[in-house]
Amino acid sequence: MFRPSQRVAEIETFKVMDLLKRAKLLDSNGFDVVHMEVGEPDFGTAPAIAAAAKDAIDKGLTQYTPAAGIPQLREAISGWYKTKYNLDISPERIIVTTGASSALLMVFSLLTDAGESFMMADPGYPCNRQFLRFLEAKSQFVSVDAEQNFQLNASLVQQHWQQNTAGVLLASPANPTGAVVHRDEMSAIAQEVQQQDGALVVDELYHGLTYASDDYSVLEVDPNAFVVNSFSKYFGMTGWRLGWLVAPLDAAHELEKLAQNLMISPNTVSQYAALAAFEPATLEELEGRKQQFKLRRDLLVSGLRDLGFSIPVMPEGAFYVYAGAQHVTDNTFDYCWSLLEEDYIATTPGLDFGQHRSNEFIRFSYTTGLDRIELAVERLQKRIQG
Ligand SMILES: Cc1ncc(COP(=O)(O)O)c(C=O)c1O
Repeated sequence: MFRPSQRVAEIETFKVMDLLKRAKLLDSNGFDVVHMEVGEPDFGTAPAIAAAAKDAIDKGLTQYTPAAGIPQLREAISGWYKTKYNLDISPERIIVTTGASSALLMVFSLLTDAGESFMMADPGYPCNRQFLRFLEAKSQFVSVDAEQNFQLNASLVQQHWQQNTAGVLLASPANPTGAVVHRDEMSAIAQEVQQQDGALVVDELYHGLTYASDDYSVLEVDPNAFVVNSFSKYFGMTGWRLGWLVAPLDAAHELEKLAQNLMISPNTVSQYAALAAFEPATLEELEGRKQQFKLRRDLLVSGLRDLGFSIPVMPEGAFYVYAGAQHVTDNTFDYCWSLLEEDYIATTPGLDFGQHRSNEFIRFSYTTGLDRIELAVERLQKRIQG
């Protein structure tokens, strides 16, 4: 018999996992489930990236790499900051990681001592609070609604800052809402965090999938911020487990030490594959996919609004719609289950993303084709309007 540590015992599962398991079972039993629960692009990895991986294997490039990543990839990411944001970021400030997931764990490890807290929005990406729990630190949730564009702002940061607050985490565009923090607000938040002598971490994982305005990086307004990013979403490489962190130079050295111990190195083949992600032909393909996502978003948002779902702010990025379902239920957890069992639509209940009014919301992912989105809306219409 083993006794799990208190730390691990308190880590929660994704609530949607059981729902996902059931959706997969329905699939294998021949039911036509529309999958709108997963947070990963359906397009697969671009062929040039896959070819670069095969090439790396053929060349025997399968040993450990430096802990912070192969120099070519750190340079390529640095080049990406120059072309995309016109920023000069030295490759030494870039640590290649095992997805944004390990980047988040590493940055929280660097910035929080036991008992300290990180401020973040509720609703938000669920794993963050588990990372902090794992580190004996705390999540300090600030409830946000459509009136705040589902994001923190400088005055909320000021209002909620406590003595044990180590810093603020923002995700822009955000999961589950697709909400973006605009440049002026980001700048005001950065100033507030600086004044409080805290750290600012921005998860830019959904950059590249912003539909209304051009992406800017927090590094344009605050060169000392920590940035989390990944090849998972825009670059379509979820299963390759590759991401990165940008940190101030002195912090990058600390993070490298941590990376050596926690990971030894990121996945070697994935790193060589990712070099092809920045090739012009690959980027052209990824831009085409982004246009597809935008069409899907527009179709889904208008379909859901017609059926009375509340989406007061157009989601500006990522591939999620966080829709208020108060007109059909006061318990979206149960409702999502019946949507799956009775109408074969798989979605994620708000409960996975926090406590704040989470029973009123459903997250729909538009990581499926236009025809499937149409089908889901039709099924919803039958359910709601008869
Ligand atoms: C906001 C956010 N951050 C981080 C992650 C982790 O991404 P990955 O580890 O695949 O890079 C996700 C995944 O969905 C996410 O939505």
